Amino acid sequence: MPILAIETSCDETAVAVVELTSSERISILGDLVSSQVDLHALYGGVVPELAAREHLKNLPLLVEEALRVAGITFDRLSGIGVTQGPGLKGCLMIGLGFAKGLATALHLPLVGVNHIEGHLLSPLINNPKLTFPYLALVVSGGHTELLEVLGLGRYRLLARTHDDAAGETFDKSANLLGFSYPGGARLAALADSVSSSRYRLPAVMRAAEGFSFSGLKTAVSLLIKREGLEPSEKRAELAHAIQEAIVEALVSKTRKALDDSETSRLVVVGGVSANRRLKMALGTLTGAEIYFPEAKHSIDNAAMIGLVAAMRLKRGDRMQPGAQAISRWPVETLQ
Ligand code: KG4
Ligand code: ZN
Repeated sequence: MPILAIETSCDETAVAVVELTSSERISILGDLVSSQVDLHALYGGVVPELAAREHLKNLPLLVEEALRVAGITFDRLSGIGVTQGPGLKGCLMIGLGFAKGLATALHLPLVGVNHIEGHLLSPLINNPKLTFPYLALVVSGGHTELLEVLGLGRYRLLARTHDDAAGETFDKSANLLGFSYPGGARLAALADSVSSSRYRLPAVMRAAEGFSFSGLKTAVSLLIKREGLEPSEKRAELAHAIQEAIVEALVSKTRKALDDSETSRLVVVGGVSANRRLKMALGTLTGAEIYFPEAKHSIDNAAMIGLVAAMRLKRGDRMQPGAQAISRWPVETLQ
């Protein structure tokens, strides 16, 4: 019984068609993403109004194409899931409005999905051995959180950032190094081009609870002002030091969470999980079993929304009439 999943919370329009195969597993029949990164790069960051307009334009086309790829027609769908939050309000509203209209027209059950819950459960898609409970490190452009994942809708927050997210810190530092938005991956590649650095940035995680990256951002900015970006080896060493500081902050908190937890399973999700140095450092954590989503599901996608939607529709969750987009929606408040 195929389910249509829609994701428009930020700057990717994504649509998937999935089918629940067992209680926590899906098969993916169609899985499409249309990224707006190039458009927003012109402005140095995501422009909410532009993003919403792009979603409005792309979503109907993507839905049609996803169904075509899945080899089904609208009448074969058994339900719809849509990201209801968190994210950019105007963007969420496009997906929500579209999903509501379609569900009404086709008389299908509709469920609203928390985007972060999608990320948290995404490693279940490609890791058949992964089971609840597990720890999750969420590292994206907008989120940096450590949670305990006990089951669907059962999340215990262990740490969250007080200020900037890890990806945001990568991107802002990359910008100071002269890369256009989002420069995180390019900063990482530059950092990896040298094996060490003469620079040492202060350990960023002094906060007893949670993460804090704003001090690092200031330190990076001061250091670059003092040192400049020439010659090119210097720039690479600066990138190296920045990456080390961010990775160390993430890894030390994760190490402590694993030590304090009953489970040794850890999943790492969000765009920064692609970071090679982070993967390597987490790999040295003794006794930890580490799982990642597939690369295409570590960035924003609709397959993960489809997984959550399928699980929630099965247990009878339905979107209430009049439900609105929820721009701030902490995942630990879910049930
Ligand atoms: O989860 P994600 O795709 O999207 C949002 O948060 O919307 O995460 C994107 C973030 C960006 O900040 C990007 O610079 C960062 O992930 N990122 C990386 C790498 N690849 C993507 N940061 C560090 N190293 C990478 N290899
Ligand atoms: Zn995301």
